[in-house]
Amino acid sequence: MPDKMPIAVLISGSGTNLQALIDASTDPDFGCRIVGVISDRPGAAGIERAGKAGIRSTVVAWEDHDDRAAFTSAVCDAADELGAHALVLAGFMRILSEEAVVRYPSRIINIHPSLLPKFPGARAVEQALESEDEVTGVTIHFVDELVDNGPIIAQAVVPIEADDDVDTLHGRIQATEHELFPTVISAFGRGDIALVDGAAVWDPPQGVLITS
Ligand code: GRF
Repeated sequence: MPDKMPIAVLISGSGTNLQALIDASTDPDFGCRIVGVISDRPGAAGIERAGKAGIRSTVVAWEDHDDRAAFTSAVCDAADELGAHALVLAGFMRILSEEAVVRYPSRIINIHPSLLPKFPGARAVEQALESEDEVTGVTIHFVDELVDNGPIIAQAVVPIEADDDVDTLHGRIQATEHELFPTVISAFGRGDIALVDGAAVWDPPQGVLITS
């Protein structure tokens, strides 16, 4: 069996998406090997999840760095140190500077709780609730130098119910994330997803990954 792609998973908080990746990675067919977890917050619950799974974790605290450039360099250095080939942003709430895209070209993937380009940024779930929209969803995309902007790899629709609040809607979005993210990351590790002329291309072509 060919070597699995070594990935570093970047987190800031509870790490439920990290957990979904950890759980999926026990499948021999999973396309990636999680070589480490990098957190910008020392107290992130995801660090404990990594520890329980026997995965190395490193804290690169935002506060320890003078600016975004220095923070980004330290994150990339930590990922290099772990032997990562790609960075998987799983609820990582910091914006990396361009150096990350230069050092990990076409090899950074982010998950976002909306149907991008709708509702980029940190208030995606709140903004979906405030909108008149009947659906929102999940987007998994390659990271470029702009925020929540790179080529879209996969999306899934999540209905907005009349009695939803932020917690119920985010809970439903996260249930979808936990299904879609491992599927996409595994496929990426197997080499089934490439960035061609600025677009994410599945080879073999992929139909609907998930339906609501
Ligand atoms: C997820 O909803 C993700 O889309 C967003 O932040 C949340 C992280 O949740 N970027 P968790 O830490 O994986 O539980």
